[in-house]
This record gives sequence, structure tokens and C-alpha cells, in this order.
Amino acid sequence: MFRRLGGDAEARFCAGFIVASEPWITLGLTFEAALARLTDPSREVHVATVSGQIVGVLILFLDGTFKGYIQLLAVHPDWRSRGIGTRIIQFAEERIFRISPNVFLCVSSFNLEAQKFYERLGYRRVGELPDFVVNGFSEFLMRKTRGPLREFTPEK
Ligand SMILES: CC(C)(COP(=O)(O)OP(=O)(O)OC[C@H]1O[C@@H](n2cnc3c(N)ncnc32)[C@H](O)[C@@H]1OP(=O)(O)O)[C@@H](O)C(=O)NCCC(=O)NCCS
Repeated sequence: MFRRLGGDAEARFCAGFIVASEPWITLGLTFEAALARLTDPSREVHVATVSGQIVGVLILFLDGTFKGYIQLLAVHPDWRSRGIGTRIIQFAEERIFRISPNVFLCVSSFNLEAQKFYERLGYRRVGELPDFVVNGFSEFLMRKTRGPLREFTPEK
């Protein structure tokens, strides 16, 4: 099931498992910075639940040039490799393709497992940002597209 992130306790729970995971350990994301992202009113924050328990979190930015940007996707470590990440991506695509023909995301150059995961789901590398978050590693911009902006009609 999907719903919006609830209050402060849920944001803290999600921030806790995010900062304890790669790639965010190497990227140096602090608990406070993760919390700020999860509570930023300009973002849409969704959680995936199983029996009422949060098993994954998704932050979307639905404005700007790269409209349809998956800013963060994390599945709780106890729930990985069970298809939940794939389901969250499907949910994100259903949301984004109503308003934009593109879904964008960034993946770290050292996060090889996540690169495979996204490629399997139809994402292609369209750019590289060297030394973007930390020195020595790139962020790869990935895109899944349904076609050019001019040919796209958003849903009302
Ligand atoms: C990447 C991630 C969202 C995928 O979600 P998931 O629920 O594990 O994915 P699924 O079960 O749908 O697909 C599993 C595949 O994801 C890939 N994967 C990527 N990172 C993984 C991880 N840390 N643990 C397990 N699988 C991972 C593997 O290819 C895996 O295939 P396998 O099960 O055959 O080994 C999740 O593993 C995660 O949160 N990883 C840590 C954070 C991260 O890398 N987020 C993406 C940042 S851009």
C-alpha cells in the first residue's frame, strides 16, 4: 500500500534507515539533512507499507526543468530484494507520467546494484555529474521517457 508520509515520528524512522544505508553513508548524508528532505513541503513524500509498517520511502520533486524527479528511493534493509523497490518505481511512474513524459533520477557511480536495478526497469544513463556530491564519485542522471515534451499532453 502507498500513502503520504505521516508526522515527525515517521520522518525520523525513515531518516534513520536512510542514513544507515549505502549510498548515503558514502555520500555523507546526515540525519538532519535526511529529515529536512523528508519534511520539505515542496516535495511529495510517499511511503510503501506492509501490514501498516513502513517498508520503503519515495521523495518526488514534480517541478523544474527535470520535472518528474525521483529525489530519493529507499527500501528498509529488512525488506530488500522482495520486489518492493520495483513496486515503488511503478507507483512513481504512474504518478509522474500523468504530468510529464520523463522520469529522472540520479544514481551514484559506486552503486552498481542500484544501476542494474534501474536499467532493468528501463532507465537509461543520460548524463554524468563528476565529483557532484563527494570527490571521486559521479552521479549518473538516468531517464525513462515516453517521448518529447512537445508531443506530451498532461492529464487534467
Ligand atoms: C535499490 C532498492 C531501492 C531496490 O529495492 P528492492 O526492494 O531491494 O528491489 P527489488 O526487490 O524490486 O529488486 C531487487 C534488485 O534490486 C537490486 N538492488 C540494488 N540495491 C540493492 C540492495 N542494497 N539490496 C538488495 N538489492 C538491491 C538488485 O539487483 C536486486 O536484485 P536481486 O534481488 O536479484 O539481487 C533497495 O535495494 C534499496 O533501498 N537499496 C539501498 C538504497 C539505494 O541504493 N537506493 C537507490 C539510490 S539511487
